[in-house]
Amino acid sequence: MSEVIVEKHEGYAVLLMSNKKKRNALDSELSKALINKAKELSTDNSIRAVVLTGVDNIFCAGADLDEFSAALTKDALGHYKNREVDVKVFDIVKIIGKPVIAAVNGYALGGGFGLACSAHIVVSSPTCKFGMPELSLGIFPYVIFPYVIEAIGRRQATSLALTRKIIDAEEAKKIGVVYEIADNPLEKAMVIAKSIASLSPAVLKLSMNAINNDSEDSINSKYLSLLRIVNFASEDLKIGIDAFKKKIKPEWRGK
Ligand code: COA
Repeated sequence: MSEVIVEKHEGYAVLLMSNKKKRNALDSELSKALINKAKELSTDNSIRAVVLTGVDNIFCAGADLDEFSAALTKDALGHYKNREVDVKVFDIVKIIGKPVIAAVNGYALGGGFGLACSAHIVVSSPTCKFGMPELSLGIFPYVIFPYVIEAIGRRQATSLALTRKIIDAEEAKKIGVVYEIADNPLEKAMVIAKSIASLSPAVLKLSMNAINNDSEDSINSKYLSLLRIVNFASEDLKIGIDAFKKKIKPEWRGK
């Protein structure tokens, strides 16, 4: 069972992603719950900062690969319909519209890496691992790529996507994903959230407008969504996911 647990503290909230059997993978239930909680928090005036984290010493293992497998039989219109949840979950920081601090407490892979990159501040434990293994599965990280580019620049983002390198917290800090490494990232993130919540609410709102005042996307997200639908029609994505499940090397067919 996957769910989002919300803990409210004075001035800030903690959002806990929980999908224990699948390393907190973003299945549609968890994604929908995240979007709904984000909407609720956006209009809750008692909350001025949000901490995002995962249960069980893992931040998030990315998209749910079982749902990916099931989705392979969908037609293009089905994928287009799915976009509402699949794509929007990576907009939760924008939806919340308040400072979001990611407390990364374990693997942040694929979509988990995307969520970390979309947060305003990332606190990581020294043992966390970050990366985009998607291409090994036969798919490009289309939806998160704009957020990764925004966080670390196009060259670093491209290198990590193509090499699928899994980096540790130190390296993630060096390239700008991580702001601070702490033995207890949740505790540290809560201290930061509390300090932000103590700021003038009016000036904090102006500050968020200033922070979010970016011009046009440097990358066309709509085009990436289209490519993603095409990728879902490929045989190689099925082969990649099957290989992950069976823990074997994929034999690509180029289709
Ligand atoms: N979607 C669905 N199930 C997932 C998952 C995902 N993204 N990530 C892990 N799981 C499941 C595994 O299939 C396994 O299920 P099982 O117990 O039924 O066999 C269970 O979670 C535990 O995973 P396992 O790989 O055995 O745990 P681990 O601690 O050895 O490794 C990870 C953890 C996160 C490194 C590893 O699970 C992983 O690489 N996951 C995929 C990450 C990924 O490619 N994300 C991008 C998706 S587009």
